[in-house]
Parts: sequence; structure tokens; C-alpha cells
Amino acid sequence: MSKLNFGIVGAGTIALRLLRHLVQPDVAERVSLTAICDPVADRAQAAAEKFGITRWFTDEQELLAYDKVDAVTIASPINFHFEQVRRALLAAKHVHCNKTMATSVSEAKELTRLARERTLCLVPSPGEMLRPHNRYIKEVIRRGDIGTLCWAVCGAAFGTYHQDESERQGNDVLTNIDPSWYFRKPGGGPLYDMTVYSLTALTGILGSVLRVTALSGARIKEREFRGRLVPCDADDNTVILLDFGDSLFAFAYGTAAGRITEAFNGSYFGTRGSIIGLTINGEPLEYPGADIARQAGAPGVEARSQHIGNQWLLPHINELHRDLPEQHVFEDVMQLVDWVTEGKPSPVTAEHATHVIDIIDSAYRASTTGKTQVLSTTVE
Ligand SMILES: NC(=O)c1ccc[n+]([C@@H]2O[C@H](COP(=O)([O-])OP(=O)(O)OC[C@H]3O[C@@H](n4cnc5c(N)ncnc54)[C@H](O)[C@@H]3O)[C@@H](O)[C@H]2O)c1
Repeated sequence: MSKLNFGIVGAGTIALRLLRHLVQPDVAERVSLTAICDPVADRAQAAAEKFGITRWFTDEQELLAYDKVDAVTIASPINFHFEQVRRALLAAKHVHCNKTMATSVSEAKELTRLARERTLCLVPSPGEMLRPHNRYIKEVIRRGDIGTLCWAVCGAAFGTYHQDESERQGNDVLTNIDPSWYFRKPGGGPLYDMTVYSLTALTGILGSVLRVTALSGARIKEREFRGRLVPCDADDNTVILLDFGDSLFAFAYGTAAGRITEAFNGSYFGTRGSIIGLTINGEPLEYPGADIARQAGAPGVEARSQHIGNQWLLPHINELHRDLPEQHVFEDVMQLVDWVTEGKPSPVTAEHATHVIDIIDSAYRASTTGKTQVLSTTVE
């Protein structure tokens, strides 16, 4: 197969950002944008017209039935992901899913099994271990540069990020997208949406978590969005303790406000030093490409920091993509494209995503039961 017929499920914020990458000439010769769907019919139609997508639908089952779709990206709210990935696999489509691909470990295991049994490619975001700095931190810790590792911390805070996104501030269908689902059960909250990045990196670097315990609750009961009050019931304040075995522990957080770590990077503390964000013992971490990532702070470049610039080091990010948003999501999609069209399996695996979902699912269970949970999955 040379050119991949590609469909997009959900025409919201991330789909619109991703499409800016997918219409670039280096991708256009590899991917045909054949279909998009969104229950908001005008949005599906407007996105199809703006990006030259052949067909638009209001129902993902119609998109899956369209014979000019070989692979899809799932870009809908998180609570729909499991069923949509499942139906796509049952319809013999290859799948990229935005994080997270499911909200329970049993669902994630089912998707992993289905893809394997049907020899379909499944790439679940986020592909954090594609990033050179994460692979370098893994190597540095393994060779003992900071001594015996004792503990680590990672996490993220919601703030008002999703309320403030530009795609939600306008008056037409492509800019008036409602973010309420981010704050509601099921599927809402910062763990599935943000902490998932840092947990994927943490477990990519340190390996499998054996047990977790957690406290979790909903701190902010309502949020304001464009003058309207949005009732919020999804947990937005969660702190998790993770046990890696042999008395190595970590702490992860997904909170309404307040970050103690940089971007989605963790901090790692050993007997002879520490890695904090992109520094080691207070000095810059010299991972391969760090000099290029730092250029992202150069004047006139849209990207604003080395953290953003780290995306420039991803395999498919060339100059056509460097100034476009969400380069990492585009990269994950191209992992699927390479896998399907060139037979190159992606290092971004469903097994790793399943382990991270196991951590989140178990953390919520630990909080409601008051009991430490033993995980049933591992990562290599
Ligand atoms: N916004 C970001 O910064 C961002 C970044 C990276 C990844 N993501 C991920 O992308 C996914 C989508 O997030 P978003 O911010 O684009 O959401 P969004 O709220 O901007 O858009 C969601 C879209 O999905 C549509 N939709 C609702 N139900 C649907 C269904 N059953 N089938 C198909 N479409 C449906 C909505 O009408 C809306 O157009 C999530 O998994 C999120 O975690 C978001």
C-alpha cells in the first residue's frame, strides 16, 4: 500500500490542528484525506471544505462503512474512545487514538487484544518515548549518573488551558467548540488528558509500576466558559503514590491548579544528584538534539521554549511542521502511517498505553476503596 486513505473521527480542536500538518506537501503524497465526521454537522462540513477532505459524515459508523477509509484517527472526547477504537478495529481499520485510548484497564486490554488478533496497527498517543530527551534520561539513570535513584515526581495541572484555547473563543463552527466534556465524568479530568503524558514518560524511563495508592476528588465544582457556568463533576485533584518495587517510589499528580514539575517532564532524585526537567545537577541536559530544541526560543519562531522545541526532534518534524501546533500528535499519526504503509511497527505501543491506563484506573479505585491497588499490566 503506498498512499493511505485516512479518516478523522471528531472535527474539534485537535483535529483542526492536526489537519494543518496533514495538508502539508510531504504528507499529501503519503496520505489521502478521505473522510471526517462530527455530530455537529456544520463543523464536519466546514472542516471538510477547509482541508479538502473528500466526504463528511455526522456518525462515525458511516465513516467506518465508507470503503475509502483504511485508517482513522480518533479525535473525539475521551469517553467515546474505547467504543470508537473498538468499532474501527472491528471494521478492519488501522487506528491512531488520541490520549487516552480507554478509561479502564479492561477496555485497554480488549483493544490491544483486538488489534493483535486482527493484525491491525494501533498507535495510542502520547508517544513520549519517541522524544530524545526521555530516552536520554532513561540511559543516564540506568548508567548511574545520579547514583541510586530514590524517588521521582511527575504530573500536570489543568489551570484554565482548555477554556482559553483559541478554537473555543469565536462564533463560527470551527472556533466555538465547547470544552465542557473535559470537566465531566466519564473521561474528564487532568489525569486522562494531561498527567497521561508524564506517566507515559515516567514508566518509559523507569519501567513497570507494581502498585498504586491515591487520593482523588473534584475540587472545582463549576467553571466559567464564555459567561456560562459549566458544572464540573470529574475528579480534578488527584495525587498518586507509585511503587516500582525495591523501595523505589514516585509521586504523580493531576490537579486543578499548581505545577511542581516543568512541562510534562518529571524530576528524578538519586544519591549522587538529580534530574529536574531538562537539567542534571543544575546543568543543561545534553541529550541528542538539545541545541536544536533550544532554537525554538529564537525570535520570530512561534514555538516558545525548549520544551516546545523538543518536538522538533521527533522523526517526522521537518521545517514544514516546526511552526505548526501539536507536532507530537502529528508525529504519532505518522507512526501509524509508516507502520501501515512501510510495515515499520511503531515503538509507541498499545501495551505501554494500557499500563498507563492501568495506573490511572487503579489510582481512582484506590481512592474510592481506600486500598492500595496491585497493577495487572507491565511495560518493557
Ligand atoms: N485540545 C488539546 O490541546 C489537545 C491536545 C492533544 C490531544 N488532545 C486530545 O484530543 C481529543 C479531542 O480533544 P479536543 O480538545 O479536540 O476536543 P474538542 O472539545 O475541541 O472537540 C471534540 C469534537 O468531537 C466532537 N464529538 C463529540 N462527540 C463525538 C462523537 N461521538 N464522535 C465524533 N466526534 C464527536 C465534538 O462535536 C467536537 O467537535 C482528546 O482525546 C484530547 O485529550 C487535545
